[in-house]
Formats: sequence, C-alpha cells, structure tokens
Amino acid sequence: MVMKFTRNLALSVAFSAFALGQQVNGPDYDSPTGGPPAKFFAAAASIPVAGLQTAAAKASKVPDLATYPVSLEKNAVKSTIHSDWLSFSEGAALSWVADMDVDCDGIDYKCVGNPDGQDQTNWGALAAYEVPFIVIPQKFLSANENLLSGNNIAAVICNGKMYYGILGDANGDSPQVTGEASWLMARTCFPNDDLNGNKGHTAADVTYILFTGKNSVLPSSALNENYITNFSTLRSMGDKLVNALASNLGLGGSTPTTTSATMTTTSKPSPTGCSWPGHCQGAACSSGDDCADDLVCTGGICSAEGAQTCSWEGHCEGASCSSHDDCSDELACVSGVCSADDTETTCSWEGHCAGRST
Ligand SMILES: *[C@@H]1O[C@H](CO)[C@@H](O)[C@H](O)[C@H]1NC(C)=O
Repeated sequence: MVMKFTRNLALSVAFSAFALGQQVNGPDYDSPTGGPPAKFFAAAASIPVAGLQTAAAKASKVPDLATYPVSLEKNAVKSTIHSDWLSFSEGAALSWVADMDVDCDGIDYKCVGNPDGQDQTNWGALAAYEVPFIVIPQKFLSANENLLSGNNIAAVICNGKMYYGILGDANGDSPQVTGEASWLMARTCFPNDDLNGNKGHTAADVTYILFTGKNSVLPSSALNENYITNFSTLRSMGDKLVNALASNLGLGGSTPTTTSATMTTTSKPSPTGCSWPGHCQGAACSSGDDCADDLVCTGGICSAEGAQTCSWEGHCEGASCSSHDDCSDELACVSGVCSADDTETTCSWEGHCAGRST
C-alpha cells in the first residue's frame, strides 16, 4: 500500500508538470538517476519509427568531411553522415547510424566514468543528466555552420524507440569520433545497461536524425544555458519535423484500400483480440478505415469507441508501453498496455504481484 501511494504521488506530480506544458525547473531533474522521464522527450506513438530507421539505413549521399570512426579503438567501425534529406523544405535533415557513447560535458562533467570531461558544451554548459542531447564531430560542424547553428532538434532511434533531443555538443577527440549522446539520452535509450562516461552502447545500431535550418532550432523560450525548460516545445517541434520528414519520404499515414477491408472480414482474430494485426487498439491511423473491427481512429490512434482521450496523444488507455512513464496521466503500464486500473497488480515488487505467473 505504501508503494502504491508513493507511485500515485509521483504520477500526480508528473501530471501537474504535464498540465503546465511540461515546463520544468531544470535543477529539479539534474541528477544521475533523477532525470526527466522518457515520456518528456519520446516521439508520439503514431510516428512510423521502423520506416524511418529503414530509410536512414538506405541513405547514400555523402557530403564533405562526413565519415568518422565510432570509437578510438583500432579498427573501429566507421559511420558516415548522409545528406539525402537536406533539400526538403520541411523536415530537412542529416542522418547517420552509429553506436552511442556517453557525453557528460557541461555542468555534469563529473559524471561516473568521465575523468577528462569539460565544463562547457558548444552553445552553453548543458546538464547531461537533464538534457537529452547528441554530439557531432567538430570538423563536420565547422564545415556546416549554416545548417547547424546549435540546439537543432534531433530524433534518435534506439532500441526500437524514438526520442527527441538537441544538438548540444561537438566531439574534438583525436581522431574525432561519432555516435555520442548525453548521459540522459544514452541511459534512456538503454535503461538496463548502466551506461556511464566510460561505458557506452557499442553496437552501431542507433539511428540519428538531425534537423537542419533555422526552423529546427529549439528556441530560448524552451532552453537556457544549462537546461531544457519546456519539454512540450521539444516534443511538439520533434513530432512536427519528423512527420514532415516521414511524409516527404512517403511514410505518412497509410491510405485505406479495399484490400484492407477484405482482410478485415477474412482474417482470424489474432492473440491480441483484433482481426487485423497491426491495426489493433493503439495502432496509428488516419481514419477509422485504418482500424480493425469496431475500433475508431481517435487522435491518430485506433481506440475503442467512446474511449477516453488523454493529455498525451498516443499514450492513452490501450497504448503499448514498457513502463508507467510511457503512459499518460494516471494510467499505469499493465502487461505492456496502458491501463486505468492497476489495483490488482500493484505491490511492492513490480512484475511480481497478484495475477502474475511466477
Ligand atoms: C511550453 O511549450 C508548449 C508547446 O510549445 C506551449 O504551448 C506552452 O505555452 C509552453 N509553456 C510555457 C510555460 O512557456
């Protein structure tokens, strides 16, 4: 019971923050394990993450000074920054696929495993525990200052999820390396790996999308020298830029076809209780025709008719989740689905409560 109370208290604090537009007092979140929850900078559930990841893997246009090793190790894998998407009028971006080392430069430079950190970042002294930022090689930055004036919005695809951050720092190692993000970003991407300044995610399987041009810069109303102060601005700019990019790449909302209608009537119900896999409750949609059975398209998400909307689109009741932080408002993550009533399954050891197999 005590645990339940504590969690509800935490949720109501998070909810108040949401009601205020997730405007935060940076220092409150500036600690190694008390940073902003993933939902403050997660992409909307309707974003076609897998499609974007595939498209980034196929990018092939190589600008000047674009190839760097992912680590200082001998024979390290090399990663190239691609410019295929630079000419879009909305959602223009650079992209690359690399590993993820942990950067703590800025005011949290004394983080674990970071003996040689610097107390500044390129456009301030960011807090690596509070700001989800990414890093780019200094040589590339210097050659492209017209595209990247600093604090540009970035979308990172790691572990199958997409998170938003900003371009916060540049790498000046010798040789310069790529594939680097702040403590907060790295530990949110890979929450079970206890990453630190000296322990990064080594597989080169992280996709970095970095938006270019003035319209992609997080404004000073949402950021100061040290902290992101309004995560709603980060998220709404991120969703807008990524949606524009996705639509330029032909990855926008799928158009309903008569084939789909036929599938609806002929497919057997799947284990998740919906007759059209991929179009069940929680799936992205642009109209009711994109959703199986009796589901309707509410706020871009297939939902049960009459389902409550919530304050975090795509993370309402029925959305898939891996922790409570993935669910809006007072919803809890129960068996991978955001649910209103977690009374039955709440106990002091999450995942081992009544109703769970042991
Ligand atoms: C935070 O950002 C959101 C989205 O840009 C905006 O609507 C809201 O007014 C901002 N809040 C504050 C307090 O500036």
